[in-house]
Amino acid sequence: MRDPEAFRVEAVARLRAAVPGRAIVAASGGIDSTVAARLVQEALGERARVLFVDTGLLRDGEAERVGTFFRGSGLAFELISAEDRFFAALAGVADPEEKRRRIGTAFIRLFEEEAARSGAEVLIQGTIAPDWIESGGQLRDTIKTHHNVGGLPKDLALTIVEPLRDLYKDEVRQLARHLGVPEPERQPFPGPGLAVRVAGPVSRERVARARVANAIVEQEVERAVAKGELARPWQYFAVLLPIPTVGVMGDNRVAGEAVSVRIVESIDAMTATAMPVPPELLRTIAERITRALQGTVTRVLYDVTDKPPATIEWE
Ligand code: XMP
Repeated sequence: MRDPEAFRVEAVARLRAAVPGRAIVAASGGIDSTVAARLVQEALGERARVLFVDTGLLRDGEAERVGTFFRGSGLAFELISAEDRFFAALAGVADPEEKRRRIGTAFIRLFEEEAARSGAEVLIQGTIAPDWIESGGQLRDTIKTHHNVGGLPKDLALTIVEPLRDLYKDEVRQLARHLGVPEPERQPFPGPGLAVRVAGPVSRERVARARVANAIVEQEVERAVAKGELARPWQYFAVLLPIPTVGVMGDNRVAGEAVSVRIVESIDAMTATAMPVPPELLRTIAERITRALQGTVTRVLYDVTDKPPATIEWE
């Protein structure tokens, strides 16, 4: 982006033109939607409500962190607790695309209800270019239906406005720095949350395990980055795999599941490289995950596949 200030001025003018009445803003706490919310706040002020949904699929401590993050950005937001609704929508669903569709629909139904309550007809989202390109917007095949793009139901009662839809992540980060949004380098987190970090069926128990494993990977990678042992990766996370694998606990044989650790470098998520990381880091992560999830996770793997041929997330 050559001139973030020019983008800001134009985006604010476009938002004012696109939203004559009231709007709601879907905020995830990530950089994209926070930057979008920031522009909306400037463009629409009191005519917009910023909503942050606790889906039950968030990372450890995320709701609290997002609160701090928004307050640091000077943004007024509302927290909506909707865990039961999301787990009900996902019960028994194992197919990744079906997960995204169900989550997309659950989000939209919730936003429709909230919009009706405040007389809003417009939903503003922080969608960026790779989200819709990989959702089949331009390229050959649908790689993944991003929950906030192709995961939307057909009978949508709201007009969608996406002020960042032509930007790539590095441009959004540049804009975030320009607007003073905190933590512009924060790693991306998929909107469908931990539902796509548990490969296979979604249950509260499996999501809770994925939450523990993701927190450990984040803590250990951030510690290694702070100590200068590792360059800051693009993304670093854990995925719970529905693969029964035999382990041993004391004198007993136990069957748990496997966890895959993924640490990648990337510029814009369109391609990515699996990072070579210090073996000690992986050993510590494996020890901590198997200890914290004793008996339920019996094996930890490191994913060495680039994108392509893999994608960044497993699902
Ligand atoms: P993939 O896995 O397709 O991911 O290589 C590319 C980037 O997008 C994130 N991602 C998502 N973000 N909704 C989102 O908002 C989704 O459904 C979704 N799926 C993947 C992923 O974390 C990576 O940064």
